[in-house]
Amino acid sequence: MIHWRILSVAAGTLLYAVTSCLGATNVVVSGTPSHAVPSTLYGQMFEDINSGDGGLYGELLQNRAFQQVTPGTTAALNAWHAVNGATLNVIADSNPVSSSLPNSLQVSFPSGDNAVGFSNEGFWGIKVDSSWTYTASLYYRFPTSSSFSGILTLGLQNSAGQTVASSSVPIRGSQRTWTQVKVTFKPSSSQSSTNNRFVVTINNTSSSTQTINFAMLSLFPPTFKNRPNGMRADIAEALVEMGPSFFRFPGGNNLGQTVASRWQWNATVGSLLDRPGRVGDWGYVNTDGLGLLEYLTFFEDAGMEPIMAVWSGYALGGTNLPENQLAPYIQQAKDQINFVIGDPSTSAPAALRASLGHPEPFALRYVEVGNEDFFAASTYPYRWKDFVGNLSAIFPQLRFIATTNTFNPIISPNPLQYDVHVYQTPTWFAQNSFFYDGFQRNSTTYFEGEYAAISTNSSDLFGSPATGRLLFPTMQGSAGEAAFMTGLERNSDIVFAASYAPLLQHVNGSQWTPNLVSFDAGSVIRSTSFYVQKLFSLNKGDDYLPSTLPSRTGTTFWSVTRSRSSGNVIIKVANTASAVSDLTFQLPFNTVASSGMLQQLHGVQTASNTPAQPNAVVPTTSTIATGRTLNFSAPGFSVSVITVKAS
Ligand SMILES: *[C@@H]1O[C@H](CO)[C@@H](O)[C@H](O)[C@H]1NC(C)=O
Ligand SMILES: *[C@@H]1O[C@H](CO)[C@@H](O)[C@H](O)[C@H]1NC(C)=O
Ligand SMILES: *[C@@H]1O[C@H](CO)[C@@H](O)[C@H](O)[C@H]1NC(C)=O
Ligand SMILES: *[C@@H]1O[C@H](CO)[C@@H](O)[C@H](O)[C@H]1NC(C)=O
Ligand SMILES: *[C@@H]1O[C@H](CO)[C@@H](O)[C@H](O)[C@H]1NC(C)=O
Ligand SMILES: *[C@@H]1O[C@H](CO)[C@@H](O)[C@H](O)[C@H]1NC(C)=O
Ligand SMILES: *[C@@H]1O[C@H](CO)[C@@H](O)[C@H](O)[C@H]1NC(C)=O
Ligand SMILES: *[C@@H]1O[C@H](CO)[C@@H](O)[C@H](O)[C@H]1NC(C)=O
Repeated sequence: MIHWRILSVAAGTLLYAVTSCLGATNVVVSGTPSHAVPSTLYGQMFEDINSGDGGLYGELLQNRAFQQVTPGTTAALNAWHAVNGATLNVIADSNPVSSSLPNSLQVSFPSGDNAVGFSNEGFWGIKVDSSWTYTASLYYRFPTSSSFSGILTLGLQNSAGQTVASSSVPIRGSQRTWTQVKVTFKPSSSQSSTNNRFVVTINNTSSSTQTINFAMLSLFPPTFKNRPNGMRADIAEALVEMGPSFFRFPGGNNLGQTVASRWQWNATVGSLLDRPGRVGDWGYVNTDGLGLLEYLTFFEDAGMEPIMAVWSGYALGGTNLPENQLAPYIQQAKDQINFVIGDPSTSAPAALRASLGHPEPFALRYVEVGNEDFFAASTYPYRWKDFVGNLSAIFPQLRFIATTNTFNPIISPNPLQYDVHVYQTPTWFAQNSFFYDGFQRNSTTYFEGEYAAISTNSSDLFGSPATGRLLFPTMQGSAGEAAFMTGLERNSDIVFAASYAPLLQHVNGSQWTPNLVSFDAGSVIRSTSFYVQKLFSLNKGDDYLPSTLPSRTGTTFWSVTRSRSSGNVIIKVANTASAVSDLTFQLPFNTVASSGMLQQLHGVQTASNTPAQPNAVVPTTSTIATGRTLNFSAPGFSVSVITVKAS
């Protein structure tokens, strides 16, 4: 009733495939690993696309320092509002708080008292949690001396205008130079709505009008691992929950729309007063409060390694620098890398790192040269040559990742790492789980640095939700990605890393859907694709066990790995169609436990986790009967991980 065919698998091992006439697909698993699964296989890709400021970065105030805005305009007052009759204006301060922050908020307080001032709406709201101690701070000065003596209050108000937290300090009109006020407060009660505001008011203006300048205002909740100027805890915890091995940063499409507005490491370190901010590639201001040191500290706290990009002479807006103008940018890339790994006794950027509290080098192995330079492929050959030529001479231990299409154009030195990106339909992902099987095994390796099922309409991939663009990952898309990922595992002798993209979206302000994790001011939504990433990452295994190949044109895909420490065999199955798929795995071990663990994500084709239904589809864990012959029925649109002890 069964017939045998000989199939070859990626790593060159010969295996016998079995097709059962009874309907179950027979999968013969080899006990001999073909290759180790790299520890770096699963990680995360980050670029600030409405997700650093107002997202991962813990700061709660929007437009906190009036960076990169035009003084005198309404737009400069974005997110700020007058309270009780004050007049607000953003000015180019004649005596700014710092040269990097030239603008101030000038507030006129009318005479007549009381509690007059201004508020900030946060990033589409501010969460008020009575278990949190908030840290609020600002700088102020009186542009003209006065005899004023009063009280400055910083606090939180709910949507009804009630003060739910505050702290006050005395201030005097004789204060002509910038002085910082820093207070902490704890709300008296939590608010179910995030429609709350940060409010700054002044009392005792009854006798006369007062004008006060404010700069660099800030409000922080407790952060991930309690780092000052750190990450928003619930978002960071969701990211860490996936067990990512690496974090690609700072972009992605955030390295620079123009040469002048490119991401520059040195503009993101040191005092927040020394960070001018920049207009990011997605058209809004990046505060750069989430700077190079904050990223690196987060990676250490989260147990991830960086895959760090350097700007490589091409701006997304279309500027390609000629070769004879590259030198200062290569120098800046050197400095950036030295800040991360240099020796403080010989390198000024490394000495700066030490002075900021981290004398030891950070871990860094991978440097990406640009981003998506297939958009500027004609100039990449000399840019790649000059950047890699110079940087590898100083940092021979680093591995440089090229960002053009693979082998097109041919560049020198021959890249040993390529970053490959694909945004496609669920069906494309299922049908391309063999994408890497045909690649030559010759020491060129691949980083699947951006991939996601983003639309069900192949002729309108980047279009609107009306024609199939997904707002949130769906079970169909996530199962397709999982099918593709079984192929990444099979080919992980040459695929060293992979990351879904983009990582994060604020549901009230985003420019790209879908994303792995969504959030608003108060909560975090883990998508079906997030759970797929987590299932694969936490059940990666150490060695790949070749098995009967799935059909290239089929709809069910699998991969098998083994953990060295536990001896567990880990079987991952993605069913990308609606029909149940029956599989029988033949495990070539003397002893296979009679029961194992089944983790499964399963839902209807269009099922999504959304703000309204954040837990519509979550993984379940159950016990499954196992043995040397392991029978498994994969439900339609499901991703399953079976873990079984074997020896
Ligand atoms: C400021 O004035 C308001 C209104 O009169 C009052 O409710 C509030 O308690 C005063 N704040 C301080 C700190 O005195
Ligand atoms: C309020 O202003 C009056 C008149 O200038 C002053 O005497 C008093 O000390 C001020 N109160 C505070 C709390 O500063
Ligand atoms: C960063 O360094 C570059 C030179 O590499 C310099 O032109 C720029 O002004 C610096 N920016 C800041 C904010 O220090
Ligand atoms: C270093 O960069 C400079 C400037 O682009 C270039 O002229 C030189 O050839 C590069 N050196 C190496 C070793 O690639
Ligand atoms: C590996 O093979 C590809 C495709 O044939 C080729 O373009 C590339 O240069 C090779 N890599 C190395 C390191 O030889
Ligand atoms: C797919 O996109 C194309 C191009 O926008 C559109 O004409 C077509 O109607 C879409 N198909 C579906 C099923 O929405
Ligand atoms: C944010 O988006 C959610 C979900 O769409 C919506 O319910 C809420 O009203 C929005 N909040 C703001 C401040 O726009
Ligand atoms: C799987 O099914 C086969 C055929 O029905 C049976 O012999 C085997 O015992 C089953 N395996 C387990 C673990 O139940």
